[in-house]
Amino acid sequence: MTDKNDYKIAGILGWPVSHSLSPLIHNFWIKQYNRRGSYIPLAISPNDLKSAIDACCSLGMAGLNLTLPHKEACLSVLDKVDETALEIEAVNTIVFQPNGKTFGYNTDSFGFRAAIESKTPKGWNISGKTVVVIGSGGASKAVLHALRNWGADEIRITNRTDSRAENLALQFGPSCNFWPWSDRNKALTDVSLLVNTTSCGMQGQPPLDLDLDHLPKSAVVNDIVYAPLMTTLLKRAKARGNPIISGLEMLFQQARPGFKAWFNIEPQITNDLRKTINAALVMS
Ligand code: ATR
Repeated sequence: MTDKNDYKIAGILGWPVSHSLSPLIHNFWIKQYNRRGSYIPLAISPNDLKSAIDACCSLGMAGLNLTLPHKEACLSVLDKVDETALEIEAVNTIVFQPNGKTFGYNTDSFGFRAAIESKTPKGWNISGKTVVVIGSGGASKAVLHALRNWGADEIRITNRTDSRAENLALQFGPSCNFWPWSDRNKALTDVSLLVNTTSCGMQGQPPLDLDLDHLPKSAVVNDIVYAPLMTTLLKRAKARGNPIISGLEMLFQQARPGFKAWFNIEPQITNDLRKTINAALVMS
């Protein structure tokens, strides 16, 4: 006999996890779309990652998101991992299959591209454009994956530790070029999109040390930091007339594929959702 339970539970594993905005986003959508279910934060230490994932699966949960420090470690404990996650070497979304198998995905690449597409004028395209990406951590890999697959003409990658940027330039291929950190200001010449993937500008971190003088005024500036919403980089870019895109856009967009897989509806990013998350950010 099977017990058909249509109450769906998803959640996020992190260590720590209390800062995560994902529960607010998913529970907002659950309510908005009248789903029977819930999305919960679960503080899980690195040692307990595998047993926690297996337990969530056994309990009949729909799936999970992963945040620091689990995104990379998770790769080796799942039954199957999609190509994007393999290339980025990080999983941020798990979908539990009806047969008890655990499938991992990375939706950050999708989320980045969707964020840029949704916030630039209709028809804005990456092809023929030069992009500069600052930083070479996990977030940078998702951004480079998106830009390469989208068809950016030239991607300039620069990072405080040059060797990490050199390695990513090799990994992401001929359109991705390494620029030494000492040349980062010059790297902004003629670019159409600037993306900060470093932790600089985040609450408690120093601002990004970057001179915008060489950046064309038409270039779109995207910071993937979202706390605070208006980083020093975004404020400076806005003040000189550049279009800006905050880190919240990617956060919202990367959440959509997981919600669709678990709750069977394509969620939208509404002004009410923005208001809810902005209010939470102001309170934090
Ligand atoms: P994530 O996986 O979230 O991207 P990460 O792997 O810790 O995080 O990477 C953080 C990024 O921010 C790195 O590119 C890091 O540069 P290094 O590779 O030199 O460490 C960058 N970063 C952190 N603090 C920085 C600072 N003060 N100035 C410039 N870059 C910084």
